[in-house]
Amino acid sequence: MLKVKKQMNKKIGVKILATGSYFPKKVLTNADLEKIVDTSDEWISTRTGIKERHISENNEPTSELAYKASLEAIKTAQIKNEDIDLIIVATVTPDMLFPSTACFLQTKLGLNSAPAFDLSAACSGFIYALATAKAYIESGLYKTVLIAGSEELSKFTDWTDRNTCVLFGDAAGAMILTASEENDDVLSVCLGADGSYSELLNMPAGGTVNPATVETVKGKLHTIKMAGKEVFKVAVTKMGIAAEKALVLAGKKPEEITLYIPHQANMRIIEAVAKKVGVTMDKVFVNIHKTGNTSSATTITALDEAIKTGKLKKGDLVELVAFGGGFTWGAAVIRI
Ligand code: COA
Repeated sequence: MLKVKKQMNKKIGVKILATGSYFPKKVLTNADLEKIVDTSDEWISTRTGIKERHISENNEPTSELAYKASLEAIKTAQIKNEDIDLIIVATVTPDMLFPSTACFLQTKLGLNSAPAFDLSAACSGFIYALATAKAYIESGLYKTVLIAGSEELSKFTDWTDRNTCVLFGDAAGAMILTASEENDDVLSVCLGADGSYSELLNMPAGGTVNPATVETVKGKLHTIKMAGKEVFKVAVTKMGIAAEKALVLAGKKPEEITLYIPHQANMRIIEAVAKKVGVTMDKVFVNIHKTGNTSSATTITALDEAIKTGKLKKGDLVELVAFGGGFTWGAAVIRI
């Protein structure tokens, strides 16, 4: 019989090295929107909590936002670009259908061999990317992983549809994670999806179901379509369930979490989820008033802001929770 010396493998932990974020310079206020569609600052503020959002320039693609957020994270992490073994970009607003936005980002970072791919999970994308990075690091396949949530929803918005155009904004956030023997900063992740809801939130054309034609362009089928009320209800339910499950998986009680960072889609959704989980709003991070819904960029840019503004200190526990098209949802408990 073949004698195999059994080696006790030490579990590989995941250390969060740094975060970064980037918002395009141009700001579009609710007052600006009043000049474009039949809406009012009062309606947008009370129904969504949004006051303004950032809009990217035409010559500033999604990979450029991801690049600027990544550079900040790399600088804070005090690593070299070459230390990155894997790049994942969560986005549903890529530079092109292919190559991936992650490949464009890789080139901008001056790298030419690190594997790079996009991840499509809409507004839950960053939490899916976090779970993926954790799995790659723990498996021993890659050591240092750059993940980004980068979106330019403004370029897929129907600016004549007041139901959607007031909601979205552009941004990117990035995080660097590395293998560690001492740290294990991603305590739990909980992901979910239900594709039977695809009709309620989607971008109908440009893929193989409706390839681009003059008619699809005329019909504005290359822009976001959403049944807001229906999405709202499922979002509250699924985010509540995911948040509770991730806490259980992490073995933590709600009161042990310093800060909850929910997806910033609607202030009323955030408040309803907090109520469901039994958390008071003083423990919930909100920046939707100045960002709008930036899809996969919301949780990571909010986390970055909470760290930069001193709302979080080393050792604090944070829960991220998100929901998006698909439907997809996810939550994660992490240590700063
Ligand atoms: N300005 C003024 N009025 C508007 C408006 C706007 N920008 N958008 C919609 N309205 C009107 C509607 O036409 C409707 O008028 P009617 O009653 O005469 O038909 C009325 O306001 C109410 O619309 P309704 O859709 O019921 O509003 P709501 O309270 O559900 O809020 C959303 C709409 C989109 C803000 C809300 O449903 C939402 O946030 N949904 C989820 C969004 C989300 O999470 N999306 C992404 C997940 S990642």
